[in-house]
Amino acid sequence: MIDYSPLLDTLSRSPLAHWQSALAEGLQNRLEGLHHGDLERWQQSLRNLPPLDGVECDFSEGVRLHSTSPLSQTTSQQLHDALQGLHPWRKGPFDLFGVHVDTEWRSDWKWQRVAPHIDLNGKRVLDIGCGNGYYMWRMWQAGAELVIGVDPNLLFLNQFEAVKHYLPQAPVWQLPFTLEELPEPTAAFDTVFSMGVLYHRRSPFDHLLQLKACLRPGGELVMETLVIEGDEQHCLLPEDRYAQMRNVWFLPSVPMLERMLRRAGYSDVRCVDLNRTSVEEQRSTAWMRFQSLPSFLDPADSSKTIEGYPAPLRATLVARK
Ligand SMILES: C[S@@+](CC[C@H](N)C(=O)[O-])C[C@H]1O[C@@H](n2cnc3c(N)ncnc32)[C@H](O)[C@@H]1O
Repeated sequence: MIDYSPLLDTLSRSPLAHWQSALAEGLQNRLEGLHHGDLERWQQSLRNLPPLDGVECDFSEGVRLHSTSPLSQTTSQQLHDALQGLHPWRKGPFDLFGVHVDTEWRSDWKWQRVAPHIDLNGKRVLDIGCGNGYYMWRMWQAGAELVIGVDPNLLFLNQFEAVKHYLPQAPVWQLPFTLEELPEPTAAFDTVFSMGVLYHRRSPFDHLLQLKACLRPGGELVMETLVIEGDEQHCLLPEDRYAQMRNVWFLPSVPMLERMLRRAGYSDVRCVDLNRTSVEEQRSTAWMRFQSLPSFLDPADSSKTIEGYPAPLRATLVARK
């Protein structure tokens, strides 16, 4: 079981002091009520992680942990097998003591595009839909004082815990909740990230407003989402699947998303990056052995998804509360 007491202690000395009891209760209910067929197997993988001494982290170019005493081949294999037990790894890559976890996504490429546009120094950061926490490590490395991520997916929580296992003191925490489940009020974060979440929400305006509610006045939102080309009158509402994903509801154009952010009460709205996802950035690997983007595009025309919609184009916008 994860020991959240250092986080609860930190919160008691912050504007989120009122989170303490609600979070403690919510965590207990969530973690005790966990019934997922694979959970015991994932937790066994965490127990199989070898204890290592002299752990050091180097996040300058990615998420890389190393040990001052080299790992034996047996220990390295044990680490590899424990991490493989947490397949599929989607966001990364991670270089953990020489084991290269080559994830489905080159999330480091996205971070390279986003990071130059934000200042996280000394900031209290909330990462909504944090996945396995890859970006949270990058946010901490970029100077954040506290990073809290929320994501309801329990496999991703276990992947996060595999890394945190070797960095127990890091002020980086993942909570197994949705944004909507966070105790209110939440208006205490300097920076809130929502990357890859908006298009999964049935009610995009509510999402923008819920994110705003998490920011302190003057705080900054970083919104990354799928978009389409076009003016402020254009959006795409897929009839069914989009790039084989069942739960994609709404892809606005950048001008429409900018207008939505302004209508939701944000100011200083600007698009800082626009990028068409390549089959080098999202693909199957030994750590994610299911189908990936190359199978989701039209084989005859890679500018279209297999359903005939425009191929994935992602925008990052920043905005102020
Ligand atoms: C496409 S992934 C994006 C992961 C990561 N943020 C990134 O940009 O690579 C979307 C994530 O959002 C999570 N998610 C979906 N709905 C959510 C909600 N209501 N609150 C918090 N997380 C949510 C999913 O479990 C999933 O891990």
